[in-house]
Amino acid sequence: MISTYKASPDIDVLTSSFPIPGFGLIPLNAFVLHGSEPVLVDTGAVVESDEFMTVLRTVIDPAELKWIWLTHTDFDHIGTLHQLLAENPQLRVITTFLGVGIMTTSAPLPMDRIHLVNPGQKITVGDRTLTAVKPPVFDNPSTTGFFDDMSGAFFSSDCFGALLQAVPERADDISEEELRQGQVFWATVDSPWLHKVDPATFARELNGIRAMNPRMVLSSHLPAASGAMLERLLGSLEAAPTAQPFVGPDQAALEQMLAQMTAGGPQ
Ligand SMILES: [Fe+2]
Ligand SMILES: [Fe+2]
Repeated sequence: MISTYKASPDIDVLTSSFPIPGFGLIPLNAFVLHGSEPVLVDTGAVVESDEFMTVLRTVIDPAELKWIWLTHTDFDHIGTLHQLLAENPQLRVITTFLGVGIMTTSAPLPMDRIHLVNPGQKITVGDRTLTAVKPPVFDNPSTTGFFDDMSGAFFSSDCFGALLQAVPERADDISEEELRQGQVFWATVDSPWLHKVDPATFARELNGIRAMNPRMVLSSHLPAASGAMLERLLGSLEAAPTAQPFVGPDQAALEQMLAQMTAGGPQ
């Protein structure tokens, strides 16, 4: 089920969560930045596209949107992308060359509807200036987050996500231990390459986010987090490279789960 809340007076969060059996819930967020040129950050999951459109209409008329910032092309971010482009002819997609390339293999983006950015580049969208940022942790080569100068928020895409037991509206309300474990676990699942990184290089990446000093961290897979939490969020990532690598259930485990379900089901 998708619901909404406000991360700040001018930023709506559209949030859902997906259960990962045996592990917890992964939140899934998209964001509406209100202003003279409204921006939608990501477009929901493919599997929830109808509901996403319904809920989006409760916070903004999609005809008023000027931009979609597509943080990357995974299925949990592109759910209503083409429907929105079809409904609103003035809407353009901010993405990267790689984002366009990946979309070409499923549902190509019209070339006159895109605006390419690379990390470090800025785009002015009405009264906001958005600076593209490559997050320190990502699962897709097209991933591009951004810093919004108006709200001071860092939109971090999958980075800083966490597997949780319940999903509050504020990451600040999650216990320190649950947040750390959930974040480390998500990082090892979503970015298994973290176990191969050079610690000094990774530390420099994290310092880049420290230097940004965001007033909020708005991740695709974590409730809205205040800037006061930044050190905690970075500390969890610092721990991820040396954490236990994730290995998913294998066929034997799956058969055991299925047998348990059958035994516990209706006779
Ligand atoms: Fe992703
Ligand atoms: Fe994601």
